[in-house]
Amino acid sequence: MNLCRRLAEDPRVDAIAPALTWDLPLRLLAGLHYLVLAHQASWEDVDGALDQHAEFLTRWVTEHVVQTNEVQRAWGLLPAFLLVADGRPFDLLELGSSAGLNLLWDRYRYRYASGAWGDGPLELTGDDRVPPPAELFQRRVTVDRRRGIDLNPVDATTEHGARLLQAFVWADQTERVERLLRAIDIVRHDPPELMRGDYVESLPALLRDRHDSAQLVVFQTASTMYLDSSATDRLRAALHDAAHDEPLVFISTGRAPDDNGFALELERYPDGRVERLGVFDFHGEWLEWGR
Ligand SMILES: C[S@@+](CC[C@H](N)C(=O)[O-])C[C@H]1O[C@@H](n2cnc3c(N)ncnc32)[C@H](O)[C@@H]1O
Repeated sequence: MNLCRRLAEDPRVDAIAPALTWDLPLRLLAGLHYLVLAHQASWEDVDGALDQHAEFLTRWVTEHVVQTNEVQRAWGLLPAFLLVADGRPFDLLELGSSAGLNLLWDRYRYRYASGAWGDGPLELTGDDRVPPPAELFQRRVTVDRRRGIDLNPVDATTEHGARLLQAFVWADQTERVERLLRAIDIVRHDPPELMRGDYVESLPALLRDRHDSAQLVVFQTASTMYLDSSATDRLRAALHDAAHDEPLVFISTGRAPDDNGFALELERYPDGRVERLGVFDFHGEWLEWGR
């Protein structure tokens, strides 16, 4: 039986988390995975782990919401970054940055059917069903500053942070685990600035703090979809107001027309009109440019 379903039906799980939420099996599975990674439990004996580590797991499922930082999404984002590059260094601000793995997008190597870009020990590639224009991959960018803000930032430079990120990737998804570990290695060399907070509240102040000769590029993946409409309106208003004297761009994942994958959207403020650049898979496995 599927382990997730089995956990949801196990009476001991009621004791661990009496208030059942939709993501409880995912949280619990991640807690077990964390214990396995710490060599305190084994997939061969999940029953034993539920008995022995009930206290740890109870704490884990209440304290940890599902926390994924998917670096493969940078493969979907890169063409958008290159498209907006205007020759000035980037001043990057990521909303809902988690551990900031995608804030380091310029340190990875990329391969598409139409070209390649960048350098680095981690290569990102995927199924570009409609590839971005080859001309984009001739562009070079430098990054002047990288800031991220998250309700629950993860410090991947610590053993706990790295293990937590890995715990939320299912153990049999070896390619994702491998990619994640390489990205964590890169982050550890020179981590970005990560702030704890609600970006809807903090955005006006963050946007006032600009680097003069840099191009302000705000971006987010898989995060604003959790906002209600009034928070979304406040976020857009903050972007609009901040661009009054000096324009800025916002690169964002939105809803794809058929809900299959993310729409890759570009908003140039103060105008703020949404331009759809393409559609890519929720985890960045495929990309259709221009759709
Ligand atoms: C599904 S994760 C995506 C993480 C990362 N952007 C990625 O694509 O891998 C969503 C992230 O958004 C953060 N988040 C959601 N709403 C937020 C808010 N109002 N302020 C700050 N962070 C928020 C969550 O804490 C979580 O880390």
